[in-house]
Amino acid sequence: MLSERTIEIIKSTVPVLAKQGTEITSHFYKRMLSNHPELLNIFNHTNQQKGRQQTALATTLYAAAERIDQLETILPVVKQIAHKHRSLGVKKEHYPIVGENLLAAMKEVLGDLATDEIISAWEEAYNEIANVFIELEQRMYADAENMEGGWKDFKPFVVVDKVKESSVITSFYLKPKDNAVLPSFLPGQYVTVKVKIDGHQYLLNRQYSLSDAPGKEYFRISVKREAEPDQPKGVVSNYLHDDVQIGDELNISVPAGDFTLDVTQNSPVVFISGGVGVTPIMSMLNTIAKENPSRPVRFVHSAKNEDVHAFRLEVKELMNRLPNGTSFICYTEPSRQESANHTGYLTKDILKQFISENADYFICGPVPFMKAVINYLKELGVASENIHYEFFGPALQIEQPKGSTI
Ligand SMILES: Cc1cc2nc3c(=O)[nH]c(=O)nc-3n(C[C@H](O)[C@H](O)[C@H](O)COP(=O)(O)OP(=O)(O)OC[C@H]3O[C@@H](n4cnc5c(N)ncnc54)[C@H](O)[C@@H]3O)c2cc1C
Ligand code: HEM
Repeated sequence: MLSERTIEIIKSTVPVLAKQGTEITSHFYKRMLSNHPELLNIFNHTNQQKGRQQTALATTLYAAAERIDQLETILPVVKQIAHKHRSLGVKKEHYPIVGENLLAAMKEVLGDLATDEIISAWEEAYNEIANVFIELEQRMYADAENMEGGWKDFKPFVVVDKVKESSVITSFYLKPKDNAVLPSFLPGQYVTVKVKIDGHQYLLNRQYSLSDAPGKEYFRISVKREAEPDQPKGVVSNYLHDDVQIGDELNISVPAGDFTLDVTQNSPVVFISGGVGVTPIMSMLNTIAKENPSRPVRFVHSAKNEDVHAFRLEVKELMNRLPNGTSFICYTEPSRQESANHTGYLTKDILKQFISENADYFICGPVPFMKAVINYLKELGVASENIHYEFFGPALQIEQPKGSTI
């Protein structure tokens, strides 16, 4: 239990720390990764360079500190992060390393403002927050290992098939090398793929959503080749596309994530995806077709054009099996005469036709796409608890959390 005085100090310093934005967390990461370069085998180096991880950590830490006397209220956020931590192999023994470097970074950035009393209050608060993560993650590790077909950390899988879904997206069908039974998962979950690439000193980790229904003899991931002009080529996605062939092995974590469809419900679902954000939705759609085909489903998908539009035939075929299913396709930059329901971006007016009572909305796509869609849905009166979304990178805030000053 934290003392009243500690709670008071923490709450009064959050606004000061938040004002420094990500300065402290950026300094913290540099400091920690130079003292503990072995952690570069866990952290995503690109997210570091782009600053997105620093923002995610700062936002969460300050939000937790603001609610330090009622930490149970941040459990949903902790759960989402703990899933990511578990899929990457973040362990109990890593927390003191983060704590030590975070406090040192606070001192170094804030200078005289960080009095001994403030630092020791933050040490207590960090330990309290860390314990919430550690406890939840310990349970997740035990579940992942003890579930039917489960395993500890990473296990080798063999690529048994590689299928081109569009000019930029390719699916990899993966079977465990030890031929063990596959664990079940919830549609929408992802795995972490850990690879060693020649020329890279450290191991690289990336998350990929499972794109087919659970209960098959394989896991399917579908990967977009990240290769925008004027930007560095995506390291792992290009490696997977170019260098990983049928028969090769990939190290995979047990499925994780809380962007999941409740398959026990019959209520309407509206799937809204942009580009490769369609992958977790494909798992959800395949699962509904397999287990509950009469459930009302709207599948809304936006792609640049037909060439990059993945799973076009698979969705068509699935829709034939869903008597209450409809699809709506947008092409934002059609390259020729192409058949879509709409040319251009999704608008609030278009989304209006998909609003239905009691529906749940599942959204995944590029960040600006998600922001626009979520804001439209809210303006159209959809309650926050019915809107579910997944970021393909460290989570960003779509809107200010209620009651937060950050
Ligand atoms: C929960 C989750 C699920 C996901 N599911 C999928 C999925 O199903 N399919 C899928 O394809 N992806 C998915 N992703 C994304 C995936 O994990 C990878 O982020 C993606 O494949 C890119 O990895 P990369 O190594 O190829 O690119 P990286 O090397 O990590 O680069 C990423 C992007 O950043 C740009 N970049 C690199 N360096 C810099 C720099 N210094 N400054 C600015 N820009 C830079 C690159 O050009 C590239 O566009 C998911 C992510 C998450 C978190
Ligand atoms: C209380 C302490 C911690 C907090 C508040 C915290 C917070 C976060 C947040 C907000 C994210 C982004 C989640 C997302 O993807 O949306 C994240 C991801 C991550 N965290 Fe933590 N974390 C903590 C401790 C740790 C520790 C101890 C480690 C291991 C050294 C760690 C390693 C990671 C890694 C590797 C990622 C993924 C980042 C990436 O790949 O870019 N975290 N954490």
